[in-house]
Amino acid sequence: MKIYLSRPHMSGRELDYVREAFESNYVAPLGPQVDAFEAATASYLGERLHCVALSSGSAALHLALRLSGVATDSEVWVSSMTFAGGIFPVLYQGARPVFFDLDPSTWTINVDLVVEALKDAARRNHLPSAIIATDLYGQSADLDPLETVAGEYGIALILDSAESFGAEYRGKRKCGTGGDAAILSFNGNKIITTSGGGMLVTRSEKMASQARFLATQARDPAPHYEHSTYGYNYRLSNISAAIGLGQLEVLDQRVAKRRDIYRRYKSALEQPGLSFMPEPEGYYSSHWLTALTLDPAVLGVSREDVRLALLEHEIESRPLWKPMHLQPLFRGARYVGQGVDEGLFETGLCLPSGSDMSDAQQDEVIARLTTVLNRHQP
Ligand SMILES: Cc1ncc(COP(=O)(O)O)c(C=O)c1O
Repeated sequence: MKIYLSRPHMSGRELDYVREAFESNYVAPLGPQVDAFEAATASYLGERLHCVALSSGSAALHLALRLSGVATDSEVWVSSMTFAGGIFPVLYQGARPVFFDLDPSTWTINVDLVVEALKDAARRNHLPSAIIATDLYGQSADLDPLETVAGEYGIALILDSAESFGAEYRGKRKCGTGGDAAILSFNGNKIITTSGGGMLVTRSEKMASQARFLATQARDPAPHYEHSTYGYNYRLSNISAAIGLGQLEVLDQRVAKRRDIYRRYKSALEQPGLSFMPEPEGYYSSHWLTALTLDPAVLGVSREDVRLALLEHEIESRPLWKPMHLQPLFRGARYVGQGVDEGLFETGLCLPSGSDMSDAQQDEVIARLTTVLNRHQP
């Protein structure tokens, strides 16, 4: 049986909620399950927050950018190593991404680089309209200094927590909160899923109500259809929200399991030349995916050798995200950094990390990996 990187993992309660939705005939992009899913997410995140359930994390990011005033030709600063869905909404707004390197101690946006670049941009009177900080692979960005500088310069700060629901930062931030808005994804490969979906989370009631308005085709109050601006069909289906209700109940268990998977990999595989994504003091990563780097000079084996050897045994693994400044789409885009992300991409691999993976399956991954590493030992 194939071992996947990260599969949907149902709790068993989802069907009950879906049945309730069917029985009430709310088979629509609104309904009691959507309301309940938003309320349960807000209660999980534990602040006075407003949650808007949407059709995807990308949709949530798009609305966050538009409602933060990101306009055509403005700049949005973002870490280069991320998934396309964390960048493309910048283009939907006609804005220009500027890509930043990662901090090697967290693998999230390098805040020192951001601070220096902001000083320079302020001197040139050319500040960005927003910064997106991505909580990568289950790990929070370094939020405190980011909130401080974003506040100092009056720049919108958006947290992309698509990969990091369930993670925490310095005991005071749950991923999915912070800044002017944060977004979550419930895509099928995420820690919990609604099959597809996302959430916009904000402290601003106004932003939340505007997001609901734009996500339902910007309908002005009138008995007919009246529009003073354009909107989107971005709301989450009530059926999907019903799945989300069942998933949310087991989120903490799912985080515990993924953390355990990371710990098992680490204790079995750690050796010179093989390094795991760091989890600094004060951070509580969800370890959505266990990510590591393989130094071919030490191990005599490249990331691709390992990936292909695992694939031969029907084990799915994946290189880290290819930094956006290396993508053909963004050729010539501005990049601020020293290529830490480039090095991680060249040597980095994500291992199977699904919470439905059995210990026996993980042992098999470990055994196959160990064999490849031993075979190539110089
Ligand atoms: C960092 C990041 N941002 C945004 C997204 C987009 O979320 P969605 O697939 O729900 O649109 C994803 C993943 O899917 C992601 O990993």
